[in-house]
Amino acid sequence: MLDLSDVSFRYGTLTVTDGVSLSVGQGEALGIIGPNGAGKSTLLDLMMGTKLPAEGRITFDGRDITRMPAQKRAGLGIARAFQVPRPFHGMTVFENVLVGATGGGRRNERASYDLCFGVLEQTGLIGHAREPASTLRLLDRKRLELARALATKPRLLLLDEVAGGLTDMECKSLIETIRGVSASGVAIVWIEHIVHALLAVVNRLCVIDQGAQIADGDPQEVIQADKVREIYMGTPA
Ligand SMILES: Nc1ncnc2c1ncn2[C@@H]1O[C@H](COP(=O)(O)OP(=O)(O)OP(=O)(O)O)[C@@H](O)[C@H]1O
Ligand SMILES: [Mg+2]
Repeated sequence: MLDLSDVSFRYGTLTVTDGVSLSVGQGEALGIIGPNGAGKSTLLDLMMGTKLPAEGRITFDGRDITRMPAQKRAGLGIARAFQVPRPFHGMTVFENVLVGATGGGRRNERASYDLCFGVLEQTGLIGHAREPASTLRLLDRKRLELARALATKPRLLLLDEVAGGLTDMECKSLIETIRGVSASGVAIVWIEHIVHALLAVVNRLCVIDQGAQIADGDPQEVIQADKVREIYMGTPA
């Protein structure tokens, strides 16, 4: 579905994404790990269109989207949730989700409301629908971040460290929700430092180090690979 071919991104002379080639199939759940500053979030920016590559080509359903801006990609079915939730504080939970559901005017009011209720149910937020977003605890703000992305009815959902900062119990609960999203057929690309959370959901794992892809494949095999262990734990003295 999504295909990145030899994609690079730079800040001046600093190469942050270094010739990455990566595909995400229909309904696939791909995990991305890598050290801080490796270029993981930048890779999601390139997939979403919030950054445009210096080189390489990106296609979605075979269509070239390399230079297509984010709002157009959202219309094609790509959505993103951020690590730090930034809801519209002056609006209720329902209204926050409605912003995504209207699809920039592409969906009528009735259909948008139905979609919102479905998404709030799916993300466990239905009981909070009328509350101001500003009163939500962290787990529910994370759920709202997910709900806003799901309200655009994505076929590909990009998640950037959505489990960061949660307790173990909260993390487990969020994992169940994300598993549900994945089981409903939405393809997922999920960056997460909490590796056990990722492994509970993804069926493929990719490792990024210094902007380049150093492993991609079966999650257990990737985790065991010598070069992956080396960048995470160093070489023995
Ligand atoms: N505006 C900028 N100008 C220059 N360098 C930048 C800028 N923004 C980010 N970088 C650098 O780009 C690199 C990749 O950043 P990115 O946020 O993609 O990493 P990351 O893998 O998501 O890290 P983390 O795990 O900490 O979230 C980092 O080395 C970062 O310092
Ligand atoms: Mg990041």
